[in-house]
Amino acid sequence: MSATDPIGVFDSGVGGLSILKEVRLLLPKEDLLYFADSKYCPYGAKTPTFIKERSYKLTEFLLTKGAKLIIVACNTASVTALEDLRTKYPDVHFVGVEPAIKQGVLYSRNHKVGVLATGVTLSGERFYSLLKRYAGETLIFTQPCHGLVERIEAGEVEAGGETERIVGECTAPLIESGVDVIILGCTHYPFIRSLVEKKAGPGVKIIDTGAPVARQALRVLREHNLLTQRTKGGREFFFTSGHPQAVAPVIHRLWGGVGEGVSGQLL
Ligand code: DGL
Repeated sequence: MSATDPIGVFDSGVGGLSILKEVRLLLPKEDLLYFADSKYCPYGAKTPTFIKERSYKLTEFLLTKGAKLIIVACNTASVTALEDLRTKYPDVHFVGVEPAIKQGVLYSRNHKVGVLATGVTLSGERFYSLLKRYAGETLIFTQPCHGLVERIEAGEVEAGGETERIVGECTAPLIESGVDVIILGCTHYPFIRSLVEKKAGPGVKIIDTGAPVARQALRVLREHNLLTQRTKGGREFFFTSGHPQAVAPVIHRLWGGVGEGVSGQLL
């Protein structure tokens, strides 16, 4: 493993690009590998065993491509598989993502916080332990958003359509509960942040975890002397288990390009 090796990032689909953006901002010289497991998206509808198996497969693929650090850019996969990944690959550096309960509780003035995430994330043991650790007196209102990941995977992130209808349906119960913070507990949701903001209004703070995850990646690389010393900008390589012709335009749209290209992988 060397400092010039790339950082590997994976998600069930294109959602992890919201994390990749923050990583690119903070680490402009690093090469980045991104795997969208589009064939099996959404993970929110899969069993924990299945999500773990996919997480192992994607990790192994990224390791064969020389990844020096793996970012599990998916809340659903992190809450389900991160602990097992660390046990199974003890020499690999991992960074995961989880709903920002701690920050949400700190921000809330009325002690009512909402969380939008997949059903798997919200029912996982890891989520429960986050609540036990950080919620304290704050009331946490959770809301799964069925069908939303699929719309974002299709690149439908603007106002005026089915995506906005689903966002309205998911945010309404939280707003009725009087929350003053909404946590985006799925890496797909930062792409529809403006729709959540529109529904929630100016009095509600919207939080996601992209920037803290990127900072954690920087810390881990620095601690292990794995930050590249290269002077030129890093490149991005995209992979998908889905059809590259279908996934590439969505990556192009959400990322603003396709870097060195999108390659299909039968994993
Ligand atoms: N981006 C994933 C997450 O953060 C996706 C969810 C899914 O595939 O259902 O939870």
